[in-house]
Amino acid sequence: MHVHYEELTDVARYIENHAHVTLDDQKTTLDNILHNIQRFRKLEPGAKVLEIGVGSGWFQIYCKQQGIDIQGLEISPQLAQVAQGFGDRYNQQLDLKVGNIEETEIGTNRFDCIVAASVFEHVEDWQQGVKKIYDALKPGGVFYFDSTNKFSFTSGEYNFPLYGWMPDRMRYRFRIARQGPDIMKLGIDFHQFRYPLLRRHFKRVGFSKVVDFVDFKDLSRKNLNPLKKSVFRSLKAVRPLKHMALTFAPATIFICVK
Ligand SMILES: C[S@@+](CC[C@H](N)C(=O)[O-])C[C@H]1O[C@@H](n2cnc3c(N)ncnc32)[C@H](O)[C@@H]1O
Repeated sequence: MHVHYEELTDVARYIENHAHVTLDDQKTTLDNILHNIQRFRKLEPGAKVLEIGVGSGWFQIYCKQQGIDIQGLEISPQLAQVAQGFGDRYNQQLDLKVGNIEETEIGTNRFDCIVAASVFEHVEDWQQGVKKIYDALKPGGVFYFDSTNKFSFTSGEYNFPLYGWMPDRMRYRFRIARQGPDIMKLGIDFHQFRYPLLRRHFKRVGFSKVVDFVDFKDLSRKNLNPLKKSVFRSLKAVRPLKHMALTFAPATIFICVK
């Protein structure tokens, strides 16, 4: 994958679809991500965080508002500019670099936390990206990952029944036919992941703890509705039930500790 400076249709579509979103709309999601990360590593003032794939920049802005020292790496120059614009609106100067996680130097033992939310499905050589993230984390540092889940019944990538179930090549051809060839430059989900594949890979890379979404779910949170709480309690207790639920869940979500 490369950085493309020309306008890409999927980026233009993303910007248009997200133009009306505000920080308030995002707060619950962002707060949940930060809360879950902090169960594994407290982000004290001065902690260093890197976000890969910043999109409209909401996580950057929210972290800055909490006093967290956060940087961002974003492959799309247009999106980096949009994120910077939202940052200005909320009086936050974002520290963004344009680059591809597959190639950009992000250092060694530098970060307390690295976040990649809805990004790795777009990273062609995803194993290389994960390796860079592992190296860039300090010992005990935390990687927050969320991405596609192949056997989900719905997909955030493209609204079509059982979209993720298609073989990769068929999915690429389908998207090119529907959205034009530049979808392959940015926007295509190169990968539809699965929990067992990711769990194995994260362990192989060297993470000491690899915890999925069901296991790290905090049932003591006040905003969790009682029905959801009892479902999660059962999933935590009955492992085969958990694995079945994760097979069809809408996303793959992990927290990994170096
Ligand atoms: C679906 S958006 C998610 C944005 C944000 N993380 C969120 O959760 O709202 C994916 C973002 O990842 C960026 N991206 C895709 N591939 C990337 C790569 N190889 N390196 C860095 N950023 C990438 C895209 O340009 C886009 O901003």
